[in-house]
Amino acid sequence: MSVQVARHAGFCMGVRRAVLEAMKAADTEKDIATIGELVHNPEVIRKLSEIGIHAVTSPSEVPGRTVVIRSHGVGPDVYRELDTLGLKTIDLTCPYVQKLHTIVARYSETGRTVILVGSADHPEVVGTLGWCKGRFYTVHDLAQAEALPEMDEALAASQTTVPHEEWEAILPVLRRKVRQLTAEDTICTATVLRQKEARTLAASVDAMLVVGGLDSSNTRRLYETCKSICPRTLLVERAADIPPGFADIHSESIGITAGASTPDWSLKEVVTRMTDK
Ligand code: F3S
Repeated sequence: MSVQVARHAGFCMGVRRAVLEAMKAADTEKDIATIGELVHNPEVIRKLSEIGIHAVTSPSEVPGRTVVIRSHGVGPDVYRELDTLGLKTIDLTCPYVQKLHTIVARYSETGRTVILVGSADHPEVVGTLGWCKGRFYTVHDLAQAEALPEMDEALAASQTTVPHEEWEAILPVLRRKVRQLTAEDTICTATVLRQKEARTLAASVDAMLVVGGLDSSNTRRLYETCKSICPRTLLVERAADIPPGFADIHSESIGITAGASTPDWSLKEVVTRMTDK
């Protein structure tokens, strides 16, 4: 049996930086709070809570003096609240998300409309919409794009983790709906590389394992992409989730990839389990 591991798998630059910096802060500070879970991965959350880093849902719940803004970013209302409460803020918003905030804020300065391609309830999207100064819409699929009203002008941008094909598929509909459309592809490089590599790998193996948190949106997207190409794709959080006999049934070749919020140790555990067969 051959086991191939995607080169771009596991923690992306933004998540790695957020986890490392939060851990560094925990060396000197007590009771560090993050606004929302730092990463959508239960294994990482467990390790962070062991060193005193816990998630809260709003600044008013922060138990200590220090708060971490995770890579997903937040809207200006959250910064204002943190300031009012006088909390020490460690801002670990991913630079790609920061760029998206700037693009959206600049374009909507005069009240112009923003269309954001992504999931309306994802924290990155919720935070980004906070930077819009005019009307905004979120569009998750073609049907939602078709349901938009006709507009004179608008900006189209994307959640950083949207698969490129989805953005490309939705864009022509937006061009039909908006007479003067400014399109900004704000998908991050880590997402593009992971998705591209996962597609190539899924097309060349008998079975795929996607490692990551079940609540992680980028891991789910990766799983959906692989599954559409290789029907024998399984999403697992850890090695223990791999059903007994998986490697025996799909014994020819197995590909392994992992979401941007998956720590190296989870990926390694799964690779070891498969290569030890
Ligand atoms: Fe940043 Fe992209 Fe990761 S936006 S947090 S590098 S998935």
